[in-house]
Amino acid sequence: MDNIIPHNYQISIEDRRKMNQHNSFVIWLTGLSGSGKSTIANRVEVELHALGVKTYLLDGDNIRRGINKDLEFDPKCRAENIRRVAEVANLFIDAGVVVVASFISPYRVNRKKVEDVVNSSNFVEVFINTSLSECERRDVKGLYKKARAGEIKNMTGISAPYEAPKNPAIEIKTEEKTIEESVKKILDYITPKLKLNHE
Ligand code: ADX
Repeated sequence: MDNIIPHNYQISIEDRRKMNQHNSFVIWLTGLSGSGKSTIANRVEVELHALGVKTYLLDGDNIRRGINKDLEFDPKCRAENIRRVAEVANLFIDAGVVVVASFISPYRVNRKKVEDVVNSSNFVEVFINTSLSECERRDVKGLYKKARAGEIKNMTGISAPYEAPKNPAIEIKTEEKTIEESVKKILDYITPKLKLNHE
């Protein structure tokens, strides 16, 4: 690091935000596997896209097939997964894009690092709060069944921890809300944040 001197770019984040006519930040969805993160993240992106907002979706299952395909699910790999995603999200934010990130991100300390990397003013933490029993009942991917049978190790909620956010910007209890209501809650929160300061 000592011998690496960053270049100064001519075009700044503010230039890009101005051209896009909206702010850029990350909407970070955390929650158990099967809690509904990806579904809600997708719908939020669709709504924003329809409003003319430049968006990008980062989702654990997809990112782990590409840039992070070398990573497993032990605590060290999860930390590295989230560290890389934070850096990627930060580049998108710098590019003027609204990022919707959907990762279990079970460790509080890892999520805090994301907030530090992107800057807390650009970080909206959304806790998708679905009980383990409901996630297990849904078991869309069949992973809980496998985990209970001992075929998957380090399964979040079963054999690996999930540390719920203590003070998220938004908490969504999916067992009490429809998808539409959940999406609206996020959009209502971020709408003022989308606007540039001079507007
Ligand atoms: S994270 O913990 O590192 O943030 P991430 O969100 O990227 O996880 O990936 C989670 C996805 O990987 C889940 O949606 C699930 O489909 C899959 N998966 C495979 N093995 C596990 C496991 N042991 N624990 C949790 N998710 C797993």
